[in-house]
Amino acid sequence: MTTTIETPAASPAARSAALPPMNRCIEMPSFELGERLTPEQIEFLDTFGFIRFRQFLPRAEVKKLVEEVEEIDARLVAEGRTVINGVPLIMGKRKDGRGFIQRMCFASLFGERLHRFLQDPRFNAILEIAGPGYRIGERERDGLVINHYRREEGSAYKRLGWHTDSLRDLFYLEMPRRYLNVGFYLDDSPIEKGGVRLIPFSHNQGLWPMLTRKAHFLDTDQDPAEYALVAEAGDLTIHDGRIWHRVAEATATGDASQRRVMYVPLMEGPLKQKDESSPTPLYFRLRRFARF
Ligand SMILES: [Fe+2]
Repeated sequence: MTTTIETPAASPAARSAALPPMNRCIEMPSFELGERLTPEQIEFLDTFGFIRFRQFLPRAEVKKLVEEVEEIDARLVAEGRTVINGVPLIMGKRKDGRGFIQRMCFASLFGERLHRFLQDPRFNAILEIAGPGYRIGERERDGLVINHYRREEGSAYKRLGWHTDSLRDLFYLEMPRRYLNVGFYLDDSPIEKGGVRLIPFSHNQGLWPMLTRKAHFLDTDQDPAEYALVAEAGDLTIHDGRIWHRVAEATATGDASQRRVMYVPLMEGPLKQKDESSPTPLYFRLRRFARF
């Protein structure tokens, strides 16, 4: 059996040296989300395909959400749940052999604080720019998703290869469209935790490069044009789902690599609510088969 050696946090100088060159080309202002996005914020998102809002919630509030997430995780594991509303959970194992959930779905249906979080009126500002008829779909598609990345033995979710979220639209028999992926950070996510890498401007590509520029999920290589989206606990990020992106593996290990991000479910069109009798979508069955 191998033991994981925990790594200490990197110094600010080491962090900035580890950032990709694209991070020196794109200077993201310290945006804050108010009742509406400002013209400057909208322009930034439209131009680059992503944006980050600092401190959407203060750390004390984030801590309360984390407590609830950990409580739900323990409860679902104790119940032996492997699927929620037809969507499989991705499970990992801690060093002591305890199971934990690395991709939780429909999380807000299991906790009052998470449910209330989704009622924050500032989400209306995002729904407004998402397009007409958008809503938060707590019971639709995968609901509120919480990704939990760790780099250590037993972790089933350490990274994610290059992809566009549009491939998923095709599996759901929908044409790829501009879809805003809204992430809320439960942990600090400095460069040594890996994290989201994006290819700026690639959301403006046509359908063919969107589908073929890289091998969806199989390609995990660094790209010379990638931008590293680093964030702090409480920050909110948006990326256009048509942009090429990946989740890089942490260089840190153990607790120092823990990265939890919640994804807010924006939906449009007819209401398609799921329940415990909902079938597993083909996308997840293929994903399990292909192990990506
Ligand atoms: Fe994605």
